[in-house]
Amino acid sequence: MDIPLYFFLAYKDLDRLSPGSEDTTLEVLDKIERDNISNVLDIGCGVGQSTILLANYFEDATVEAIDLFKHYLTVLDENIKENNLHDRVFTYEMDMRDLDFANEEFDLVFCESSIEIIGFKEGLKEWRRLLKPNGYMVVSDVSWISKPSAESKKFWKNTYDDVDTIENKISQINDEGFRFIDYVIVSKNDWKDYYNKLEMNLNELKTDKSAKNFVGQLKKEIKVYRQNSDDYSYVFYIMKRC
Ligand SMILES: C[S@@+](CC[C@H](N)C(=O)[O-])C[C@H]1O[C@@H](n2cnc3c(N)ncnc32)[C@H](O)[C@@H]1O
Repeated sequence: MDIPLYFFLAYKDLDRLSPGSEDTTLEVLDKIERDNISNVLDIGCGVGQSTILLANYFEDATVEAIDLFKHYLTVLDENIKENNLHDRVFTYEMDMRDLDFANEEFDLVFCESSIEIIGFKEGLKEWRRLLKPNGYMVVSDVSWISKPSAESKKFWKNTYDDVDTIENKISQINDEGFRFIDYVIVSKNDWKDYYNKLEMNLNELKTDKSAKNFVGQLKKEIKVYRQNSDDYSYVFYIMKRC
């Protein structure tokens, strides 16, 4: 797949590729019974901020992380080496739509800000088989956190049509053979930090004419969020396979 250079430059040196923070992820992980976790899968790991955090949190677990883009996995591989985690953290270039893992291999399947690529219901349906009975699934997805403005609705209708209320997401979770445990809303500060960093990179790309549409779309995303930050957020959903 040919990815234009400006795509990578937009996300250059960002420690994460979506709004989030260590504090938020720890709040999520604290809702899991830590003792029973020995095999973890991180789907759409990007540069792997979450992968390293998962490995440090579940100290004895094996953590496997997949992403479609080698470019990001190379950054993560360096980080794994630096953190001396190479004996139990492994990366694979793999498509989340076609995961090459056995049924019931994992105690925890984690996916931060990436399930929109396959779709919320589809992701739950496809990935359920990877979990041991009673295994945990944690996914974050853009969700309405209050009644959305017309601008938010229009933007997300054209960007990701699966945005829904937390209540509806929970009922989809229950319909797909999981027991819903809890949710955590990604904070406004997490979004602020992420968009400030992303915006600086986008400003560097201002003179690249080939990047104009791409930069314009991301700038619009940032503007819509800043004007409607009460309407939506990524929400982590914590659930168990029934
Ligand atoms: C929004 S980023 C989130 C990355 C990371 N989880 C984070 O929160 O920083 C989405 C990630 O999904 C990856 N991705 C895109 N399509 C994919 C696919 N079909 N299979 C696996 N990963 C994919 C991208 O390379 C990117 O790393």
